[in-house]
Amino acid sequence: MKLPEKGLAWPEIEARLNDAKKDDYSWRDGRMAVYYYYLDDELSDVQKRAYAAFWTENSLGKRAFPSLAKLEHDVVDFGLSLMNAPEDAAGTFTSGGSESIFLAVQTARDWARATKGIDKPNFVVPRTSHPAFSRAGHALGVEIRRVPTTRNDFKADIGAMAGRIDDNTIGLVGSAPCYPFGVFDPIRELDALAQARGLWLHVDACVGGFLSPYVKRLGHALPDWDFSVPGVTSISADLHKHGMAAKGASLMLLRSKELKEKYQTFDFREWERGPYVAWTMQGTRPGGAIAAAWATLQHLGDEGYMRCARMIMDNKKSLIDGIARIPGLTVLEPSELSIFVTRSADPTLDIGAVSDAMGTRGWLVGRQVEPPGIHMHLNPSHERMVGDYLGDLAWAVGEARHSGATSKDAGSTY
Ligand SMILES: Cc1ncc(COP(=O)(O)O)c(C=O)c1O
Repeated sequence: MKLPEKGLAWPEIEARLNDAKKDDYSWRDGRMAVYYYYLDDELSDVQKRAYAAFWTENSLGKRAFPSLAKLEHDVVDFGLSLMNAPEDAAGTFTSGGSESIFLAVQTARDWARATKGIDKPNFVVPRTSHPAFSRAGHALGVEIRRVPTTRNDFKADIGAMAGRIDDNTIGLVGSAPCYPFGVFDPIRELDALAQARGLWLHVDACVGGFLSPYVKRLGHALPDWDFSVPGVTSISADLHKHGMAAKGASLMLLRSKELKEKYQTFDFREWERGPYVAWTMQGTRPGGAIAAAWATLQHLGDEGYMRCARMIMDNKKSLIDGIARIPGLTVLEPSELSIFVTRSADPTLDIGAVSDAMGTRGWLVGRQVEPPGIHMHLNPSHERMVGDYLGDLAWAVGEARHSGATSKDAGSTY
């Protein structure tokens, strides 16, 4: 891109931005299976206004912006209480799930180095856990041992994970739920293993953190996974997923303030400008993301989160019931929260070809690779698409059968 000779006025800029968007999929009418969380324009307006109210404030500057320190404290405090944290717990507002996971791996690494003298650390994690763990491990010099979930329910295989623990293992991970299948790892069993071996236990609740407490209150049976499980050391939970906040918002929570102070804090003094203390990977931090998350909590309130949970679980039921009526398709069991996977139950029907056909009708389909399937991650706005989706899915199955095609595009998940 070349800079314009003279700066443009907003109407021209707006037109160019809209033009840049013209080939994007439409999230507004629920045609995307991933990447967004939308309730209604009222909530979006609240977020935009809150973001704009702090659009250039930098929450690195606690002295300059006590307002942001207070808003961040409120959001963290709510997350801790929702996740049954003990009185002494602590947390940090981060830019997203990957950063929260990064900080958890780094804090566990520094804890193990200081308290156990381990300098070639490894974490044992289910293969279904998010790539962010391997990414963090790669950057931080922590080996991430991914262990297949051989059980039929796609949940962490505790025996197999125990078999991968050695003297350099510093921690275990469980997801609540995992992204590929939407199921909860057995955190109570991981807890027993972690406590018996003196390990850190991180629960990745990036998807479930702000949804499953409400789904539980609706009466759905879900396993325990939060700080009420005594050996859970840290939790990642995304505000910008089912917390319904604007993007750039997640929490990294720790069982004790001491862990945060001793092992998460970066306290640097070796330059001329004086002490630089930070708890995140970021330096400058957008105040807008914190203000928008705080405003989201205020606007939705308890009732709003219950409404989102009800919408998601009702939509899931309508979709799963509808898919069961389409010959040749089946939905993987169990599906415990907002994610489910549709598979072909007929060896002559290629599910990738069904995805291809859905693509021609404007659906951005989440493609599951192992086993091949269609991955769906629901948010409240999917309410609008249930009928259209089921109609197009039945049509796409017919198309795939008719053409006998096999998929052209199996690998393009992200
Ligand atoms: C279970 C889980 N953990 C972590 C992440 C990473 O979150 P982010 O994309 O906000 O970095 C995701 C994203 O989908 C996820 O599903």
